[in-house]
Amino acid sequence: MSGEWWREAVVYQVYVRSFADADGDGEGDLEGIRSRLPYLADLGVDAVWITPFYPSPLADGGYDVADYRDIAPRHGTLADFDALVADAHRLHLRVIVDIVPNHTSDEHPWFREALAAAPGSPARERYVFRDGQGPDGAQPPNDWLGVFGGLAWSRTTGPDGTPGQWYLHLFTPEQPDLNWERPEVVAEFEDILRFWLDRGVDGFRIDVAHGLVKAAALPDAGERQKKLTIEPDALPLPMWDQDGVHEIYRGWRRVLDSYPGDRMSVGEVWIGDIHRLAMYTRPDELHQAFNFRWLFAPWTAHAVRDVIDLSMREVAALGAPTTWVLSNHDVYRPVTRYADPKRPESGLRRARASLLLMLALPGSAYLYQGEELGLPEVTDLPDEVLQDPIWERSGHTARGRDGCRVPIPWAGSAPPYGFGPDGSAPWLPQPASWADLSVEAQSHDLSSTLALVKEGIRLRRDLLGGLGEQLRWVHVADPHVVALGRDDPTGRAVLTSVTNFGRAAAPLPDLGQVMLASAPVDDPAVVPPETTVWYRPQG
Ligand code: NOJ
Repeated sequence: MSGEWWREAVVYQVYVRSFADADGDGEGDLEGIRSRLPYLADLGVDAVWITPFYPSPLADGGYDVADYRDIAPRHGTLADFDALVADAHRLHLRVIVDIVPNHTSDEHPWFREALAAAPGSPARERYVFRDGQGPDGAQPPNDWLGVFGGLAWSRTTGPDGTPGQWYLHLFTPEQPDLNWERPEVVAEFEDILRFWLDRGVDGFRIDVAHGLVKAAALPDAGERQKKLTIEPDALPLPMWDQDGVHEIYRGWRRVLDSYPGDRMSVGEVWIGDIHRLAMYTRPDELHQAFNFRWLFAPWTAHAVRDVIDLSMREVAALGAPTTWVLSNHDVYRPVTRYADPKRPESGLRRARASLLLMLALPGSAYLYQGEELGLPEVTDLPDEVLQDPIWERSGHTARGRDGCRVPIPWAGSAPPYGFGPDGSAPWLPQPASWADLSVEAQSHDLSSTLALVKEGIRLRRDLLGGLGEQLRWVHVADPHVVALGRDDPTGRAVLTSVTNFGRAAAPLPDLGQVMLASAPVDDPAVVPPETTVWYRPQG
């Protein structure tokens, strides 16, 4: 395993509840993941990022952690975790775990202690408790809103029923925000990192990495907080991306660097300003930050070229490789997101073209489980099965993220499609139409999305491995076409990737021999609509 492996890694995100259920309780578990590691090794990915598996009351799908040093019984044991890491490493797969430092669960012992303690006590200082405004303190301390709807503050009630202080929660009330001004909080998380590093993990995905430090005095945020902060023109907000957060990651970097074997960190940083984003990956901070721009870009050549161009310029300026993300457990699956409503079948075609374009780029690519199968969003889950807190917190106006979290199909013709043992009922129901999308079905089909992704990863490793962060735009006159080249250190072209975002076939000059394409190519000199083609340049 070579140094700085993460620079060009393909990382596969496992959403633990929905990947593989070994014990048949309807939820995925570590033994399930372990049994499927050979599949991931065969797919050719370099690393597996596993979403939170810690003890949790599941107020937010496990992103509400009650104990950072253990495994939830529904997902297994620490012994299972150790076995998983050992097997992964035998298969040359790295393991990245999810760390959730912005907030704990309200069932975390620290929060219970805080609720039982008096205002101003050290136990309360670990969180963000404040008196309310107004004569009887009945108004929240400021105007901050929760990301999932409602206020970002909840009021406590004393044992005798009298209302007390308020506490901050940028997400659900069951996810109280920690106070990162306290050295005790800083020390605790560095110790948690060491706990998992000692168990052999190769890296951390850091949840809400831009949220830990809040502006001093917690000023009102005003109307602009209603804008999604990922938008490029979004203004700074007092709860996100405060300068003080960088000092935390300098400390984390020191911890990671004190271990052998290239341990890494990737921050979930939802900010629009690409310069501010790049600051998280300065040499003494995080190794990577998720670059979500493409995920929000529409399906047009113009938008995608701009995203790639901007990201690459930032890389050139700072030296940290960019990441590419088209899908994760928080967003609509690309197959559904990209679909032209008048031509639903265009969604899969566009998602496949995007995947192949992503694999041609320098930097690392993050794949979300099921993306390699071309799974669509499940848009017709019945109300009563919805578990995402967004559903309740939005007053049933937003259905939330369960539709991209439906357990994935492995084999067979009916649910649970090998996700769990026959007869088990997955925690979210799977569509009756998923038999053809299963791993088993696609493994026998050379034109499947699974076959495309596998071949794309193989060629990427063979041809592009070690080429570094270089990318060359190839000029084509057609405004719907994005073409780029990758060269070896001597300047010899090794790959030309061409994506036609248009609805008409795009004739091109001779670009060489077709190596791989996201849709059938009849004539190498014509790129079909909504298709990416990889060419081996001549000479
Ligand atoms: C980002 C995670 O990806 C998401 O699933 C979660 O709800 C929030 N952070 C809060 O932890």
